[in-house]
Amino acid sequence: MADQAEWVKRPEAAIAAARCTETEYDALYARSLKDADGFWAEQAERLDWIAKPSTIADWSFDPVAIKWFSDGRLNICHSAVDRHVENGHGDAIALIFEPDDPKSDARQITYADLQREVVKMANTLKTMGVEKGDRVTIYMPMVPEGAFAMLACARIGAVHSVIFGGFSPEAIAGRVEDCESDWIVTADEGLRGGKRIPLKANVDKALEKVSVKAVLVLRHTGGDIAMSEGRDHWYHELSEGVSDSCPCEPMDAEDPLFILYTSGSTGKPKGVLHTTGGYAVWTETTFRYVFDYRPGEVYWCTADIGWVTGHSYIVYGPLLNRATALMFEGVPNYPDHDRFWAVCEKHRVNIFYTAPTAIRALMREGAGHVAKHDLSSLRLLGSVGEPINPEAWRWYHDHVGRGEAPIVDTWWQTETGGIMITTLPGAHDMKPGSAGKPFFGIVPELVENDGVVLEGKAEGNLCIARSWPGQARTVYGDHDRFVQTYFSTYPGKYFTGDGCRRDEDGYYWITGRVDDVINVSGHRMGTAEVESALVLHPKVSEAAVVGYPHDIKGQGIYCYVTLNAGEEPDGDLEAELRQWVRKEIGPIATPDHLHFTPALPKTRSGKIMRRILRKIAEQEYGSLGDTSTLADPGIVDALIETRKGNA
Ligand code: WTA
Repeated sequence: MADQAEWVKRPEAAIAAARCTETEYDALYARSLKDADGFWAEQAERLDWIAKPSTIADWSFDPVAIKWFSDGRLNICHSAVDRHVENGHGDAIALIFEPDDPKSDARQITYADLQREVVKMANTLKTMGVEKGDRVTIYMPMVPEGAFAMLACARIGAVHSVIFGGFSPEAIAGRVEDCESDWIVTADEGLRGGKRIPLKANVDKALEKVSVKAVLVLRHTGGDIAMSEGRDHWYHELSEGVSDSCPCEPMDAEDPLFILYTSGSTGKPKGVLHTTGGYAVWTETTFRYVFDYRPGEVYWCTADIGWVTGHSYIVYGPLLNRATALMFEGVPNYPDHDRFWAVCEKHRVNIFYTAPTAIRALMREGAGHVAKHDLSSLRLLGSVGEPINPEAWRWYHDHVGRGEAPIVDTWWQTETGGIMITTLPGAHDMKPGSAGKPFFGIVPELVENDGVVLEGKAEGNLCIARSWPGQARTVYGDHDRFVQTYFSTYPGKYFTGDGCRRDEDGYYWITGRVDDVINVSGHRMGTAEVESALVLHPKVSEAAVVGYPHDIKGQGIYCYVTLNAGEEPDGDLEAELRQWVRKEIGPIATPDHLHFTPALPKTRSGKIMRRILRKIAEQEYGSLGDTSTLADPGIVDALIETRKGNA
């Protein structure tokens, strides 16, 4: 448990410059609970509304119906782009693009440029036939056109569904089909660490399974690709001569803004749906307070726009705040392990937001790579995606932050739309490994398995007692699944799927997922998805997948595999199964460890004992618990022997 020794004081400079001091945080937090309507109406004032909302909070968790600002009308693209130009900030830099190859030129995109680009993309989408309410799939590399496409959809009222560029054709097909998307925006190829990613070829393969009306293709690398006559259009051709005006479509606050697929405990990934007004207010407010952003500063979030972090903290949050956001196409270790720090130095980055897995990987390469660069511009660091171990926290703080820059460890989820628990840089001292305090309006609860809510210092399942503006509204096309997944375990509360403890200072420590979701390099993965992929292989009869500790990735993917009678495991089959899962889901799901076993431990009723499999993968043989209810307890000993032999 935390003691005084674990505190890291926020620097005087952060307190002096803070938008929100500790006293102000306490007052604002109290008000956000006591007078939620007044508080959120005030925050919403910073956006441009076509019709100001008079209804603010309007929600229930039992039955589940969530609305915020429901009679308000706005267009998020107008608030993120156009109004800054109208207010005389057209020359301010909106995006800095740093390409994969450091020898290629960086690009600076002003707010005026951004407006022109978004209008061009929006009118091109309209030329293809996209209308308000249509779902548009975006499968793009980390280039500014990815952000243009998102904002263009928002501008015309289309709903974007961004798919991370690392997903396979199978995954694309499943997502296109699930949200009945008739349009895809992609590029010829992506570039990452000098390697080409065959984006258009992946789309072509996906479109052997599902069909769409049109595909818009950005020429990025100039690589050779196939274009299907009538279906595929080059962006540079189709956008030629489109009008340079495209008014922002007036949207109801509760009109859908985007769908983003994310993994859960069971079944296929869910299309989490976010709506316009609440998401805009939430990303604007969290970005403003958590990063304490000031005009002129350069902010860099290293996420990909294919994940929620990219949506909320590369595109919407920063642009709503008229920030300068850096977009990086590449990877941390190309051309060398100092690339992040070289980019920070080159663009004089002030605020840097990344994931623990990247910090751990760079830490392993040594602080020498950091020392080569002048990082004096950095004044605030952030972490997101998984628990950060105190050792990595210290390294990040001491070397990257020169022992001065505060760290915000931000806990949140695709479903929460934006940051939920974090310290604020000028308000709170830090504890390495703890996310800290709830953001305005957030009431975390720690709940025991039987539903009892724990008070004070405690550990339990993390629930959120009240709605907040950025909360997901539903799962696209399956509201029952939304209700079941998040609101049925503890009726009347939103259940996060995470375990958590609260210490004597009211700081929250996320302990990791308590369900069958694992977090691999900060990427969320359902063990059931990997299992389904494995059993599709003709030689596999059964599979059980669990997470296990991994030095760099946080968690690795451990697969127990039972083969069909007569099949023998060998090195070739191992390689083949790895390749198979990559093909079915994508490289991020590549198994780290395959454990062939003649059988899996099951209860007499046939249920796989995952708890035991998890412990064996973790090499925690002493705490297997009761194995007497197993149909064949002998299997456990055999599994342990193999694990020891392989360890
Ligand atoms: C985990 C990413 C500890 C957590 C924004 C959550 C974290 C899941 C943190 C959501 C953090 C995210 N500390 N754990 N600061 N941030 N997580 O939907 O398990 O990709 O439930 O959203 O990541 O992952 P998702």
